[in-house]
This record gives sequence, structure tokens and C-alpha cells, in this order.
Amino acid sequence: MKIILVGPPGSGKGTQAGHIASMFGVNSVSSGDLFRDNLAKNTELGKLAKDFMDKGEYVPDEVTIDMVMGWIEDPTHSSGFVLDGFPRTLAQAEALESRLLGSGGIDRVLFFNVDEEALVDRLSGRLICRGCHMPYHIKFSPPLITDQCNSCGGGLYQRDDDKVEVIRNRFKVYMQETEPLVKHFRESGNLREIDASMGINDVKRAIERAVR
Ligand code: AP5
Ligand code: MG
Ligand code: ZN
Repeated sequence: MKIILVGPPGSGKGTQAGHIASMFGVNSVSSGDLFRDNLAKNTELGKLAKDFMDKGEYVPDEVTIDMVMGWIEDPTHSSGFVLDGFPRTLAQAEALESRLLGSGGIDRVLFFNVDEEALVDRLSGRLICRGCHMPYHIKFSPPLITDQCNSCGGGLYQRDDDKVEVIRNRFKVYMQETEPLVKHFRESGNLREIDASMGINDVKRAIERAVR
């Protein structure tokens, strides 16, 4: 099963990705998390990505495509995967589609639809686990123990790009670069739209209905 999650910043892709992946016994990956892992290890790729991420701009296609293709080509991901936040541009979509030509292509695209105002509240109260990248929220999804991840015990931090002015730019870039992809995927017939403005558990149930 090869599933793609598309949606604006803060729409809940990272919150739902692990659950979707476990339903199918596959792994999930967020392209943003791959960049942050690189940054934590101080690699050249991480340093390059940081300049774009801090401004809420997209990292250039060429490096993004190489990075995600490297992850997909890992033999442990050959049975399928959930991609959170990739592809986000037409060039990325075309690269992925041509890479998957011989293996049945993308099975499902889940489009997380929410409007901009809800996203600012979600992102400005978000906390992320340093260990496993699980997102929490001070109001909507607080950890059981303050500042500690429920699943791995890791410490929680606020992302540098979750500042209001950067959030606004991320949304603008999303509308320009990624929203047009929704039409592209809709034409392919395997897009399912999820009302991601509902609570976390209702979104989870809507996803379960959409993928079965
Ligand atoms: P990335 O890390 O992917 O950020 P993003 O796309 O902006 O999305 P987020 O991770 O912010 O949101 P999410 O949808 O995962 O929401 P979450 O589940 O955390 O990318 C970061 C940067 O990397 C990009 O800006 C770009 O620079 C670069 N990049 C990455 N991929 C790229 C690509 N393909 N091409 C080029 N550049 C790329 O939820 C948000 C919050 O809301 C949490 O606090 C959560 O607890 C809460 N929440 C979740 N669901 C609900 C709900 N239903 N109700 C209430 N609260 C909820
Ligand atoms: Mg995310
Ligand atoms: Zn964790």
C-alpha cells in the first residue's frame, strides 16, 4: 500500500501518519522530519534546508526528490509506505509517479482539508517530540506528563517555523505550490478528501473509512 498525505501546514498529517501506516503494516515518513534529522546531525543537506524552512519556503525540488527517493529505495520500505508532505510540487509528483510506474503507482492520496484560521491555533500550540517527532498540542492533544512524549519519553520542543509570521508564509506557499496538485491527484481518481477540521479522533475515523 502506497499512500500520500497532502494538506496545508498543521492540517494533522503528522498526527495521523503513524496510525495509517500501522493499519497497513508499513512505515511512514515526513519529508520535513527528514530535513530536521539532517539538521540535528549538522549535515550539508540539513544546513541548506534550514535557510528555506526558517522562512517557510520550500526546499528546492532536486535535493528534496533525491532525499525522499533514498528513503523509498530502502529495502525495508519496498512493501509500501505513507509519505507525509511529499510530493508538494508538480515536479515532485512526476518524479514519484515515474519511480512507481513498475510497482502499481500510488494507491491513495488523502487530502487533509482545513481552512487557514484553524491552522494558526494548531501550530502556535504545537509541541514536537525530539525522539520520535510525534506532534502534541497544549490544548488539543496534551502529553500525559508535561513536556514528555507518551510513546518514547523524549523531550518536547517548539519548531522554529511555528511562529505566526512564518506560519502565514507556509500557508501562502502551500496555496501557490501544492494546492494545484490536489486537482492533479483528483484527476487520477485515487484522491479522498478528509474533513480535517474535525477533532483528532473524528479525523482518524474518517481516514479509516476512506482507505478501506
Ligand atoms: P513539514 O514538517 O512537513 O511541515 P508542514 O507541511 O508545514 O506540516 P506540519 O508538520 O506543520 O503539519 P502537520 O500537517 O503534520 O500537522 P500536525 O499533525 O503536526 O515541512 C516543514 C518544512 O520542510 C517546509 O516548510 C519546507 O521548508 C520543508 N519541506 C518539507 N517537505 C518538503 C517538500 N516535499 N518539498 C519542499 N520542501 C519541503 O498537527 C499540527 C498541530 O495540530 C499539532 O499540535 C497537533 O497536535 C494538532 N492537531 C492535529 N490534528 C488536529 C485536529 N484534528 N484537531 C485539533 N488539533 C489537531
Ligand atoms: Mg508534520
Ligand atoms: Zn517520542
